[in-house]
Amino acid sequence: MPSSLELSVVVPTFNEAANVRELLARLQAVLGESGWEAVFVDDDSPDETAALVRSIARIDPRVRCVQRVGRRGLSSACIEGMLASGAPYIAVMDADLQHDEAVLPRMLEQLKLGSADLVVGTRYSQGGSTGDWDRQRAGMSRLATRVGQWVLRQDVSDPMSGFFMLRREVLDASVRRLSGLGFKILLDILASAPPGLRVAEVPFTFRSRYAGESKLDELVVWEYGMLLADKTVGRYVPVRFLAFAIVGGLGVFVHMAALTLFLKGFGLGFTVAQSAATATAMVFNFAVNNILTYRDRRLTGWAWWRGLASFMLACSVGALANVGIASYLFESATTWFLAALAGVLVGAVWNYVITQLYTWGRKDRAA
Ligand code: GDD
Ligand code: MN
Repeated sequence: MPSSLELSVVVPTFNEAANVRELLARLQAVLGESGWEAVFVDDDSPDETAALVRSIARIDPRVRCVQRVGRRGLSSACIEGMLASGAPYIAVMDADLQHDEAVLPRMLEQLKLGSADLVVGTRYSQGGSTGDWDRQRAGMSRLATRVGQWVLRQDVSDPMSGFFMLRREVLDASVRRLSGLGFKILLDILASAPPGLRVAEVPFTFRSRYAGESKLDELVVWEYGMLLADKTVGRYVPVRFLAFAIVGGLGVFVHMAALTLFLKGFGLGFTVAQSAATATAMVFNFAVNNILTYRDRRLTGWAWWRGLASFMLACSVGALANVGIASYLFESATTWFLAALAGVLVGAVWNYVITQLYTWGRKDRAA
């Protein structure tokens, strides 16, 4: 490796303190003394990964930490890490040592030879493997890979890989179109890059985690759906609005179920039952949107309650707007169905815009 900065290794972290030193030792072993840097992007991990990285950075200038507060997300972390570096070549890898650092020099060589713009560490081509995954996870991963390949219309054997290296120009050319949603940063880049991108692959065996545990949960499927939606219909409708609308649709069922319970079960009068059902649906919509639609800005602790209050306030105004517009249209001779639909749409857009600004737009998300 030369003494000037050639390669930046971007490492997203959330609670990975026990892996940091081992990863750096292994990077040093394969990349040598100089010419590289490691940029850790940590989302304010409770185990103080960021503080550990900074303490190492004080004695080793090749190491840096970008700490993000009140934010979560693997993809957006990788994007910000890549943007924080000046290196002409950038690698992205996990902190838990599941990705085989020994293939980094080969990836770099391919880029420097000029035969490829991006090199993917793949588990699925000759010589690669998913290691000791159980059958269910391996099957899920294969299915998700097929769907990803279909959206990409590109022949990449492992578009879900979290391990790859690219020339800085590839980032420059795609960064403004990136979705930054969820876990699949490589798929995001491949789908956002201008046509003609030359992709090479290097097989590796996915190892078991060195220390700590996986951050992937059941909702990774939902996040993947959001990313694919953004890559396909996202240029016409914002995916967050789609998610918000889907949750709103579910809220109608919750409303009806609650209304039935209050009317038939508790024998309440209609107006009281309808008001209680409306409040129930609002709480449901807030809680579910907080988990799904605004996963990357999730409110916790006191901020959750404050968020609920602002959400209910905004949605009450939205409901008034809905009824007002629908009644107005109905009176000016629009059919009841279209009048109601217009009311619902205006109410939904209002709720979406206002809660995005005031419920999930505040900086103090956890308290
Ligand atoms: N900054 C940040 N923010 N980092 C995160 C977050 C987050 O919200 N969530 C996870 N990470 C970091 C972890 O600390 C780890 O370094 C890396 O991202 C991967 O997370 P894991 O929890 O270890 O994911 P995995 O091993 O189950 O999945 C990996 O392999 C898949 C298959 O290759 C990831 O690389 C996936 O992207 C990949 O699809
Ligand atoms: Mn992992």
